[in-house]
Amino acid sequence: MKIAIANDHAAVSEKNAVAKTLEELGHQVLNFGTDTLDSTDYPDYAAKVGQAVNQGHADLGILLCGTGIGMSIAANKIKGIRAALCHSEETAEKSREHNDANVLCCGARVLDLSVIQAIVKKFISSEFSGGRHQRRVQKMMAFEADL
Ligand code: RB5
Repeated sequence: MKIAIANDHAAVSEKNAVAKTLEELGHQVLNFGTDTLDSTDYPDYAAKVGQAVNQGHADLGILLCGTGIGMSIAANKIKGIRAALCHSEETAEKSREHNDANVLCCGARVLDLSVIQAIVKKFISSEFSGGRHQRRVQKMMAFEADL
Protein backbone atom coordinates (compact mmCIF):
# COMPACT_ATOMS: atom_id res chain seq x y z
CA MET A 1 0.00 0.00 0.00
CA LYS A 2 0.91 3.65 -0.31
CA ILE A 3 0.71 5.22 3.13
CA ALA A 4 0.91 8.97 3.73
CA ILE A 5 2.39 9.95 7.07
CA ALA A 6 2.98 13.24 8.87
CA ASN A 7 3.48 14.63 12.34
CA ASP A 8 4.19 17.78 14.26
CA HIS A 9 7.25 18.52 16.42
CA ALA A 10 5.88 16.29 19.20
CA ALA A 11 6.27 13.09 17.19
CA VAL A 12 9.32 13.24 14.91
CA SER A 13 11.16 10.21 16.25
CA GLU A 14 7.92 8.21 16.49
CA LYS A 15 7.08 9.07 12.86
CA ASN A 16 10.52 7.91 11.75
CA ALA A 17 10.14 4.64 13.63
CA VAL A 18 6.67 4.00 12.20
CA ALA A 19 7.82 4.85 8.67
CA LYS A 20 10.72 2.40 9.02
CA THR A 21 8.36 -0.33 10.15
CA LEU A 22 5.98 0.33 7.25
CA GLU A 23 8.83 0.16 4.74
CA GLU A 24 10.09 -3.06 6.29
CA LEU A 25 6.59 -4.46 5.80
CA GLY A 26 6.85 -3.59 2.09
CA HIS A 27 4.69 -0.47 2.01
CA GLN A 28 5.51 2.75 0.17
CA VAL A 29 5.67 5.64 2.61
CA LEU A 30 4.90 9.23 1.57
CA ASN A 31 6.46 11.39 4.27
CA PHE A 32 4.94 14.87 4.55
CA GLY A 33 7.10 15.96 7.51
CA THR A 34 7.81 17.61 9.79
CA ASP A 35 11.33 16.27 10.13
CA THR A 36 12.71 18.74 12.64
CA LEU A 37 11.92 19.56 16.26
CA ASP A 38 11.06 23.18 15.38
CA SER A 39 7.60 24.08 16.62
CA THR A 40 4.95 23.55 13.93
CA ASP A 41 1.18 23.72 13.52
CA TYR A 42 -0.46 20.30 13.30
CA PRO A 43 -3.32 21.42 10.99
CA ASP A 44 -0.79 22.04 8.20
CA TYR A 45 0.30 18.41 8.34
CA ALA A 46 -3.18 16.99 8.77
CA ALA A 47 -4.16 18.82 5.58
CA LYS A 48 -1.24 17.36 3.61
CA VAL A 49 -2.06 13.77 4.56
CA GLY A 50 -5.81 14.28 4.26
CA GLN A 51 -5.50 15.69 0.78
CA ALA A 52 -3.13 12.91 -0.30
CA VAL A 53 -5.67 10.32 0.81
CA ASN A 54 -8.68 12.17 -0.60
CA GLN A 55 -6.96 12.67 -3.96
CA GLY A 56 -5.99 9.00 -4.17
CA HIS A 57 -2.24 9.55 -3.89
CA ALA A 58 -2.25 7.34 -0.77
CA ASP A 59 -4.41 4.41 0.30
CA LEU A 60 -4.30 5.31 3.98
CA GLY A 61 -2.89 8.08 6.17
CA ILE A 62 -1.19 8.20 9.54
CA LEU A 63 -0.92 11.36 11.65
CA LEU A 64 1.02 11.70 14.90
CA CYS A 65 1.06 14.63 17.29
CA GLY A 66 1.32 14.98 21.07
CA THR A 67 -2.12 13.64 21.90
CA GLY A 68 -3.42 12.81 18.44
CA ILE A 69 -6.43 15.00 19.20
CA GLY A 70 -5.47 18.06 17.16
CA MET A 71 -4.52 15.94 14.16
CA SER A 72 -7.81 14.04 14.30
CA ILE A 73 -9.94 17.17 14.59
CA ALA A 74 -8.08 18.81 11.72
CA ALA A 75 -8.04 15.77 9.45
CA ASN A 76 -11.76 15.27 9.84
CA LYS A 77 -12.30 18.72 8.32
CA ILE A 78 -10.71 17.55 5.06
CA LYS A 79 -13.11 16.28 2.41
CA GLY A 80 -13.34 12.51 2.21
CA ILE A 81 -11.46 11.88 5.44
CA ARG A 82 -12.56 9.63 8.25
CA ALA A 83 -9.80 10.05 10.81
CA ALA A 84 -9.78 7.82 13.88
CA LEU A 85 -7.93 8.69 17.08
CA CYS A 86 -6.90 5.28 18.38
CA HIS A 87 -5.31 4.21 21.62
CA SER A 88 -5.33 0.42 21.27
CA GLU A 89 -5.19 -2.33 18.68
CA GLU A 90 -8.91 -2.95 19.26
CA THR A 91 -9.92 0.64 18.49
CA ALA A 92 -7.68 0.60 15.41
CA GLU A 93 -9.26 -2.61 14.15
CA LYS A 94 -12.81 -1.39 14.77
CA SER A 95 -12.09 1.95 13.14
CA ARG A 96 -11.34 0.11 9.90
CA GLU A 97 -14.02 -2.57 10.22
CA HIS A 98 -16.93 -0.37 11.34
CA ASN A 99 -16.02 3.19 10.34
CA ASP A 100 -13.89 2.61 7.23
CA ALA A 101 -11.38 5.01 8.75
CA ASN A 102 -8.84 6.12 6.17
CA VAL A 103 -6.55 8.08 8.49
CA LEU A 104 -5.14 6.86 11.79
CA CYS A 105 -4.20 9.39 14.48
CA CYS A 106 -2.12 8.59 17.56
CA GLY A 107 -0.63 10.60 20.39
CA ALA A 108 3.12 10.26 20.76
CA ARG A 109 3.11 11.87 24.21
CA VAL A 110 0.42 9.59 25.60
CA LEU A 111 1.29 6.20 24.08
CA ASP A 112 4.49 4.15 24.17
CA LEU A 113 6.14 3.69 20.79
CA SER A 114 5.56 -0.06 21.00
CA VAL A 115 1.83 0.57 21.39
CA ILE A 116 1.80 3.00 18.45
CA GLN A 117 3.59 0.44 16.29
CA ALA A 118 1.07 -2.26 17.22
CA ILE A 119 -1.83 0.11 16.51
CA VAL A 120 -0.39 1.02 13.12
CA LYS A 121 0.10 -2.63 12.15
CA LYS A 122 -3.46 -3.47 13.18
CA PHE A 123 -4.88 -0.45 11.33
CA ILE A 124 -3.21 -1.22 8.02
CA SER A 125 -4.02 -4.94 8.16
CA SER A 126 -7.72 -4.54 8.99
CA GLU A 127 -10.46 -4.10 6.41
CA PHE A 128 -13.86 -2.45 6.23
CA SER A 129 -16.64 -4.94 6.96
CA GLY A 130 -19.26 -3.24 4.77
CA GLY A 131 -22.82 -4.48 5.25
CA ARG A 132 -24.75 -2.42 7.82
CA HIS A 133 -21.66 -0.31 8.40
CA GLN A 134 -21.73 0.91 4.80
CA ARG A 135 -25.04 2.68 5.36
CA ARG A 136 -23.70 4.39 8.47
CA VAL A 137 -20.54 5.53 6.74
CA GLN A 138 -22.62 6.90 3.86
CA LYS A 139 -24.75 8.86 6.34
CA MET A 140 -21.64 10.36 7.92
CA MET A 141 -20.15 11.34 4.60
CA ALA A 142 -23.42 12.94 3.52
CA PHE A 143 -22.79 15.57 6.22
CA GLU A 144 -20.08 16.99 3.94
CA ALA A 145 -22.72 18.08 1.45
CA ASP A 146 -24.27 20.36 4.08
CA LEU A 147 -21.05 22.18 4.94
C1 RB5 B 1 1.87 20.52 20.47
O1 RB5 B 1 2.37 21.11 21.61
C2 RB5 B 1 0.57 19.79 20.79
O2 RB5 B 1 -0.44 20.70 21.08
C3 RB5 B 1 0.18 18.90 19.62
O3 RB5 B 1 1.20 18.00 19.36
C4 RB5 B 1 -1.07 18.06 19.81
O4 RB5 B 1 -1.02 17.37 21.02
C5 RB5 B 1 -2.33 18.75 19.59
O5 RB5 B 1 -3.42 18.16 19.66
